[in-house]
This record gives sequence, structure tokens and C-alpha cells, in this order.
Amino acid sequence: MGLNVVMMGPPGAGKGTQAARLARQRGVPKISTGDMLRDGIRDGNSVALEAKALMDMGQLVDDRTMIAIVQERLSRSDTAHGFVLDGFPRTVPQAEALDAMLDARGQKLDAAVAMSVPEDELVRRLSARRECPVCQRAYNLETAAPRDGRHCDDHPSAELVQRADDSESTVRRRLEQYWSKTAPLIGWYRESGRLREVPGLGPLDDVYRSLTQALGCRA
Ligand code: AP5
Repeated sequence: MGLNVVMMGPPGAGKGTQAARLARQRGVPKISTGDMLRDGIRDGNSVALEAKALMDMGQLVDDRTMIAIVQERLSRSDTAHGFVLDGFPRTVPQAEALDAMLDARGQKLDAAVAMSVPEDELVRRLSARRECPVCQRAYNLETAAPRDGRHCDDHPSAELVQRADDSESTVRRRLEQYWSKTAPLIGWYRESGRLREVPGLGPLDDVYRSLTQALGCRA
């Protein structure tokens, strides 16, 4: 049975980490709008390059652009049996557009997961996050460090880098954006009975277990 899920939560809540595991386990694509924008920037895509300035400032990209990106991605055949959306929707208009996209293909959103983590922990996690510039594998210098502490385990000549928007001041701006524009979605999904709240603090395996329990599927 397919499972259509969105992962919500403030920056650093662990959406991407848990979405990747859930998608792998269910055999469905993980669709991260942040990753798509960053890939687009690396490939010189004009829409993504226009979004870059906003991303670097910790602001949201406009709804029209994001809805078009997701609409195109969801039209691909690999989403026919489900998907895990990471980082979309982030506003009520985006959530309405997602419902309309799924409605048009006779599907529905099964669950919107809201992950919660205290703010000081979010800032700590993001300050310690590093990624491989070759494969974008994510590490954390405190909790999931590479073997030698500096280079990607899979690309030993690649020194890990910090994401442009992970500086403390930009993280604070991203948090402000989350509370003002994205957090209202929690009530919106609760009203329609699709909200699943998952605590994001604790070991990765424990968080994953809470996630699968909340979704009513096997861990
Ligand atoms: P995006 O890439 O989506 O960033 P974000 O939402 O800020 O989320 P992050 O990727 O920072 O955090 P995460 O929750 O995925 O945590 P992660 O698993 O990596 O968006 C970037 C930008 O793109 C936005 O600011 C915006 O400009 C634009 N954008 C994207 N989508 C948009 C949209 N729909 N509308 C408008 N604009 C959009 O974990 C974080 C760290 O913590 C990692 O180091 C990880 O190893 C560690 N960690 C995870 N879980 C645990 C744990 N349980 N214990 C300890 N450490 C942990």
C-alpha cells in the first residue's frame, strides 16, 4: 500500500534524516525541496539560482516557485506508490496546492508529521552539521562524525563543508520564518485529522520508532 507523507518541523528537527530512512524502508522516493533547490544551484538552474539569495538569508522561497517545482516532481512515475515529502509544504497555500495535486490524481495525503525539538538543541545540531561536497551525505560533528573527523567516509579526499545557511544568525532567521509561516500548518493539518506529532529529541533509532508508530507502520 502506498503512503503519502509530509515531514514538517523547524530547521534541524531531523526531517531529512528521518525522511530518508522512512523512504528507504517503504521503497518510495524522498522528495526534499531544500535538496532540489541546492542541486539546482549546483547545476546552474536559473530558477534555483534566483532562489539562492533568499535561501542564504534564511527566507522562504515564494509559493509559486515551490508549488511548480513540487508539481513537476510529483508528476514523475516513481511517486505513483507513495512519497515522503521533506520541507514541503511550508505555508498554507503550499498545503492547499498539494491537496489539489493529489486530488487531481485520485490520491490523498495520509499524514503530516510534525517533529518537535527544543530551540537550543536545533541551533546546536545545525552548527555541527557538515556535508560532503561530492555526494551531499550529511554528518554531524557531535553526533554522527565521519571516521577521520574531517572527510567524507565515502570520498576520502573531500573535506566536509558547512551549509551556507547554517551560520547561527541565519539559523535564527530560519527559525523565525518557521514560527511565523510554517507552524500555522500544524493546526491546519490537525483540523483535518492528518497531523501526527513526533518528538525529535533522542537517539535516531528511538525517533524513528516513534515516527513509524505514529504512522501505524512497521519500524
Ligand atoms: P531545507 O533544506 O528544507 O532546510 P530546513 O527545513 O531548514 O531543514 P534542515 O535541512 O536544516 O533540517 P532537517 O529538519 O532536515 O534536519 P536534518 O535531518 O538535516 O530548506 C532550506 C531552504 O530552502 C529554506 O530556508 C528555504 O529558503 C528553501 N525552501 C525549501 N523548501 C521550501 C518551501 N517548501 N517553501 C519555501 N522555501 C523553501 O538534521 C539536522 C542535523 O541534526 C544533522 O546534522 C543531523 O545529523 C542531526 N540530527 C538529526 N536527528 C538527530 C537526533 N535525533 N539527535 C541528534 N542529532 C540529530
